[in-house]
Amino acid sequence: MIGDVPTAGPALRPPSLQLSRRRFVQGAVAGTLLWASPQRGLARSRAAGRPAPFTQPLPRLSELTAADIDLTAAETLVQLLPGGPATRMWTFNGTFPGPLIRRPSGQRTTVTLHNQLPVAAGTLTLHHHGGHQESIHDGQPATNLVDVGSSRTYVYDLIEDGVGERGALQWYHDHSHQRTGRNSWMGLVGMFLVDDGLDAQLGLPTGDQDIALLLTDRAFDEANQLLDPFATRSGAGDGTPPGDEVVGDVFLMNGASQPFLDVQPRRYRFRLLNASNFRVYNLALEDGTPLVQVGNESGLLTEPVTRDAILLGPAERAEFIVDFHGRTGALNLISVPLASAGEVPRTAPARADLLQFRVAAGSVADTTVIPAALRPLPSWVDTLSHTPDRVWVFGLGVDPSGTTAWTVNGRTFDHERVDARPELGSTETWLFVNTGPVAISHYIHLHDVDWHLLSRNLAEPEPWESGLKETFRLDPGEVLLVGTRFTDHLGRFMVHCHMLEHEDHGMMTTFEVVEPGKGDRLPRSPIDPTPTLVRASMPPATAQDALAVLDHVARTGAAAPFSVLRRPLPALSTPIICTLDPR
Ligand code: C2O
Ligand code: CU
Ligand code: CU
Repeated sequence: MIGDVPTAGPALRPPSLQLSRRRFVQGAVAGTLLWASPQRGLARSRAAGRPAPFTQPLPRLSELTAADIDLTAAETLVQLLPGGPATRMWTFNGTFPGPLIRRPSGQRTTVTLHNQLPVAAGTLTLHHHGGHQESIHDGQPATNLVDVGSSRTYVYDLIEDGVGERGALQWYHDHSHQRTGRNSWMGLVGMFLVDDGLDAQLGLPTGDQDIALLLTDRAFDEANQLLDPFATRSGAGDGTPPGDEVVGDVFLMNGASQPFLDVQPRRYRFRLLNASNFRVYNLALEDGTPLVQVGNESGLLTEPVTRDAILLGPAERAEFIVDFHGRTGALNLISVPLASAGEVPRTAPARADLLQFRVAAGSVADTTVIPAALRPLPSWVDTLSHTPDRVWVFGLGVDPSGTTAWTVNGRTFDHERVDARPELGSTETWLFVNTGPVAISHYIHLHDVDWHLLSRNLAEPEPWESGLKETFRLDPGEVLLVGTRFTDHLGRFMVHCHMLEHEDHGMMTTFEVVEPGKGDRLPRSPIDPTPTLVRASMPPATAQDALAVLDHVARTGAAAPFSVLRRPLPALSTPIICTLDPR
């Protein structure tokens, strides 16, 4: 069964878990018929100890700063919700989230993963998300797996192109084939901060005024145990794409439900990771004070951007400054619905209270600044072509048995297949297309290197996404042009949707960086031939969609409406690989 949460034994299985699953499945089946309902996949908690908002302090995460780090994955009881039973989770070093790893850029770091989970949990693979490591240390879905009872050491030199990696809020999580969603939901996530000194040099808030936040959602049963929404895909039709999202109704910041944080009346820098399986948040301060965004998942932007709200999908990060000077009392960080939520109902953020700042009275000296210029872009960005070298179509397919799966260029993930061979040292431009056919956004993440967004629907990107990034929102019908330079490492890396259920259900593929002269890039040509490229590499239905989108965008200059894409589901060119083998 896909995603079934194994337990160490019958004794550990909470008595209500079976019941909870059945209820969830009923909801999911009903929802499959109602694709447009925003609440469709919501797992509703019946937690005994569900606290009132803003009654628990924001937990301080334990920090690991040594060059050699051990992470032990084990089943742990975690007091996630106050006042009731502890929650059975799978944790790194006993906490949820795992410890915050904090390392200077350019300094070799090793992380040794010890898999001490129950046997039924199966192998693990630890991905350092945002890191620029060798392929063998990248923690990929189906290779170099770590058996229960064994260990593996991952080496990160934190060097890129001969210099220290850009400072950034990176993170780590399990990346097991078809089990990433389940393993992450069970707790196998943590943050990894790479410092490069530029922050302090720029005068941004540091130390106690620089706070890393990991935001997730979960759902609980009456005994405070995590609901198990990872229903089997065999037979019942539940949990299958496009009705496979896993969202909870309890919001956890650093593992506490809607906590509060005491702050001084001065500037703070918050670095927030959306580590949710599927949920999108639209972060804002409740009183309407804008947020000053200074960074994203690839570190500092070129300049600060003032925003009313920051839309953040799974795996994306936002660094923002809040100045509490001149305030007292409570100020809430919330998620607000999108004005245009009707466009993408399945992935639109809901209204949610996330974190309360409590500002102390009085005044304190504050020498921090938000400089007008932050980090310049690397020079390779100027050399990127606006003509795509490759096209990646993100869609939905159905196999001969009628089972749906998420696809990349009409195919589901097969770890033995390589779909692109860019050359080491070269720059490439890739085109992402979301052909639906359901109105769901995707959040496309690329391993190995940072990317630069050249255009969104052939228009200039917004300032907050015009720096470097590694996870890109791709709304229904949208076309994105992104470019990168492949440095340092040969070998295989992934491109996938970071909505974990999409990734687990097929929407992932492999590119392999190869020696110069051995690549498979088609000759560059003007923008027109793009559809030819698409046609050559994909089943006809998907190719036509991509064509329709490109035509529409070129003609109207606007985002392709969802209606352009309405069509029957395309047949898959390869059968879905969906049996879950614990290996
Ligand atoms: Cu955070 Cu390939 O993933
Ligand atoms: Cu990654
Ligand atoms: Cu997706």
